[in-house]
Amino acid sequence: MAFELPDLPYAHDALASKGMSAETLEFHHDKHHNAYVVNGNKAIEGTQWAGKSLEEIIQGTYDASAVAQNGIFNNISQLWNHNQFWEMMGPGANAMPSELEKALVENFGSVDKFKDEFKAAGAGQFGSGWAWLVKAKDGSLKVTKTENGVNPVCFGQTTLLGCDVWEHSYYIDFRNARPDYLTNFLDNLVNWENVASRM
Ligand code: FE2
Repeated sequence: MAFELPDLPYAHDALASKGMSAETLEFHHDKHHNAYVVNGNKAIEGTQWAGKSLEEIIQGTYDASAVAQNGIFNNISQLWNHNQFWEMMGPGANAMPSELEKALVENFGSVDKFKDEFKAAGAGQFGSGWAWLVKAKDGSLKVTKTENGVNPVCFGQTTLLGCDVWEHSYYIDFRNARPDYLTNFLDNLVNWENVASRM
C-alpha cells in the first residue's frame, strides 16, 4: 500500500493571519510534501522497504556514517517530517498546557530559555534542515538540530516539536529572515497542545 499525502488539518489560508500564508502552504504542502510522497513511493517500490512503516524505513535506512543519506531515506524521512509539522501548528489559541510548561522550566530553566535555544538551533543549522524539541531516551527534554531530512526517529528519540528550516518553508513570507520565521513559529504558530500530547 503506497503512502498518501495527508490533507492539511486546516484550510490553506488558516494560518495567514499568524504569519504563514496560503501561498506558502500551497507550495509547501501541495508541491514539496507531495513530491516526497511521490518520490518516496517510487524509491521503495520493489525493495525490502515496500509495505513497511515510515518509522521502520527511516530507522532501517539511516546511515550515521554516511556523508549523504540515500534517496529512500531522504524522501521517506521528509514525508514523515512534514506529516508531523502540519499537526504541530494550528489556527486556534496556542496556550501552553501546564504539564509542558513545567517540563520546559525543569529542563531549560524557563520557557523563554527553551525558545532561545530552539531559535539558536534553527538559525544555526547550516543549509537545509530542522530544529527539534525531543524527549531523549533518559526522559530529559533536549533541543537538537539536524541536516536535510534527518530526524529524531533516527536516534530513537520522541519528537515533541519540529520546525522546518528549509528555505521553502519561509522564503515566501520571511524572505531570508530565518530568525524572524523561527520567532513567529514559536510565538504564533505552534499548537502547544499537540506538543504536550506527544510527551
Ligand atoms: Fe519542508
